[in-house]
Amino acid sequence: MNIMKKHEDVILFGWNENPFTFKILPDIFIGYENEIQSILSGIKGNSKVTIILGPTGSGKTTLLKHLIKNKLSSKNILYLPKPPRDPADLVNILMNFTKNSIFRKLLSRKKDVNLYNIADYMNSKIKNGHVLLVIDEANESTTETMEWLRTLSDQITNMTLVMAGLPVLENKMKSELETFYRRIDNSVKLTNLNQMETRELIKRRIERAGGEGLKPFTPRMVDMIYEKTGGFPREILRMCNSYVNEAIKKNITMIDVDLKSDIEDVKEHSVVRNAPAFRRQESKTVYDSIEEMPQKQKDIIDILSSHIKGLTPTEIVSKMNLKSYKNRDNAIRSVNNILRRMGDEGSVIRERRGKAYKYSLSGKLRTATVKS
Ligand SMILES: Nc1ncnc2c1ncn2[C@@H]1O[C@H](COP(=O)(O)OP(=O)(O)O)[C@@H](O)[C@H]1O
Ligand SMILES: [Mg+2]
Repeated sequence: MNIMKKHEDVILFGWNENPFTFKILPDIFIGYENEIQSILSGIKGNSKVTIILGPTGSGKTTLLKHLIKNKLSSKNILYLPKPPRDPADLVNILMNFTKNSIFRKLLSRKKDVNLYNIADYMNSKIKNGHVLLVIDEANESTTETMEWLRTLSDQITNMTLVMAGLPVLENKMKSELETFYRRIDNSVKLTNLNQMETRELIKRRIERAGGEGLKPFTPRMVDMIYEKTGGFPREILRMCNSYVNEAIKKNITMIDVDLKSDIEDVKEHSVVRNAPAFRRQESKTVYDSIEEMPQKQKDIIDILSSHIKGLTPTEIVSKMNLKSYKNRDNAIRSVNNILRRMGDEGSVIRERRGKAYKYSLSGKLRTATVKS
C-alpha cells in the first residue's frame, strides 16, 4: 500500500480503486460462452474471415484480448487496435508476423516486399503453419484497406482474419464490399449478459478492487441494474458507477433499491440506450425495438423512412415538430446525438455530403418500418 491520497471509494467501501471504470480487463471476461466457442472453432477449422459485431461497450475489445491472452497460443497472432488507413502499411504489419519466427530471416533480407508480392512471401514462409490477424474497430477501415485485406486473405492460404466492429460494419460490407462480405465464414454478435452474468461481472469487478462480494449493492439492487441495463456491459458499469458516486455523496454504505428511487432521474437518461435493441432473450426483430424506442427516435425514423436518399440533421429538424424541444439549436443537438447512437447500433447509415453528414435508414430498419 502506498501513502497516496486515497479516493473516497476507498474510505467508504474499502476498495483500492474504482471497480467500475471502462478499463479493458481481459482476465475478467464474463459470459458470451457460445460466441467464444464459435470463434475458437472457426479458427481451429481454418476459417478465412471471422467477424464479431456489437455496439460500443458490448465487449468486443475485451473479448479479443481475452481470446489472445487466455484462449489461444500466442504464436503468430497479430492484434491491430484499428485497421491501417493506408493499405500499404499492411506490408510492414504482416512482416511483423515474422518477428522472432523462423521466417523472419528470409523476409527481412528481401528489400522490395510490397502489397503485390507479400502474399507469396507469406505463403512460402508460413507453409503448414497458421497465422491469425486480428483487427479491432474494423468499421473504421477505409474501403481501400478492406479491399486489400480481402485480397490478402484470399491469397495467404493459412491466415485467419478476425475483425471486430460496430454492427454498421456488416451493412457497410454488404453494400460496398460484397465480395469480401461473401468471404465471411463465421459471424458472431455480442449482445448482452444474462442476469447471472451481470451479477458475476459486478462481483468480479468489486473483488478485484479489494471489496467483498456484491457489497455495497444488495442482490435485489443488482437484479434491478440488470433489468435497467438489459445486461449491456458498458451500461452495467456506468450505472454501478453512478450509484456508487451517489452513495458516496450521501455517505450511504448499502445500495438498495431505495437509494435508486432517490436518484432515478439522474440515471434514467444514460441507462437503457442500446439495450432493448440488442437484448438476446427477447425477440430479435427490429420491429419490436422500434415499439420500445423513445418518441424522439421514432419521429426521426419516421422522417427518414420517407427520404430514402438521406437527410442532414438540419434537414431532419426542419421537418420536425419542435414542440418537445427548447429551441431549434437544442433540437439539432438532440437529433445529432440520437443519430450518432443509431449509427453505433447500425440502424442508420451515415454518408458525407459536403461539410455535413446525411443519414438514411439502414436496410434492416427500412424493412421494419415498411411493415409498421
Ligand atoms: N463480457 C464481459 N465481461 C467483462 N467485462 C466486460 C464484458 N464486456 C464488456 N466488458 C467491460 O465493458 C467495458 C466496455 O467493453 P469493450 O471491450 O471496450 O467494448 P467494445 O470494444 O465493444 O466497445 C470494458 O470496461 C470491458 O472491460
Ligand atoms: Mg473496442
